[in-house]
Amino acid sequence: MTQQQIALVQQSFAAIRSDADLIAMRFYARLFFLDSSLRPLFPGSLTEQGRKLLTMLAFVVKGLDNPGELLPHVVRLGERHRGYGVEESQYATVGEALLWTLEKELGSKFDVDVREAWSAAYTLLATTMTEQSAEQIAA
Ligand code: HEM
Repeated sequence: MTQQQIALVQQSFAAIRSDADLIAMRFYARLFFLDSSLRPLFPGSLTEQGRKLLTMLAFVVKGLDNPGELLPHVVRLGERHRGYGVEESQYATVGEALLWTLEKELGSKFDVDVREAWSAAYTLLATTMTEQSAEQIAA
């Protein structure tokens, strides 16, 4: 990610953060529309789950300024996701639902540059979550 992309992700996220519960509901509605087989992976409260997701996104968005500190947390998040039974192929669907949700929230502010910046951020997260393990980071 370029410095400019990091700035675009941070600025656009700051513009939407107030509607956390609504954003989360839209996200899950879109996710299960794209792939209803993912629904059983989330047996608990989607409001709670959505809050955790958005808190984590806020943490990640802030952490982009300091990837060396951020990425080990993301690696551990990926390890926990393997424990939840999440498969690598499912990351693309989650990414699509996330970009769709951001587009709905940001409207015309979600221009090509902002979309590309978010896409790069999500790819960085998904790649780190699926391809790395804590041992590799430590090595
Ligand atoms: C960048 C991508 C993602 C982020 C930031 C993220 C974030 C989170 C967070 C913060 C939690 C709370 C528990 C924890 O911290 O371990 C969680 C749980 C979970 N996530 Fe994700 N996640 C991502 C991708 C995915 C994908 C691709 C799937 C696949 C469908 C998924 C499915 C789940 C499930 C099943 C749980 C546990 C639900 C439960 O315990 O009821 N996540 N996620």
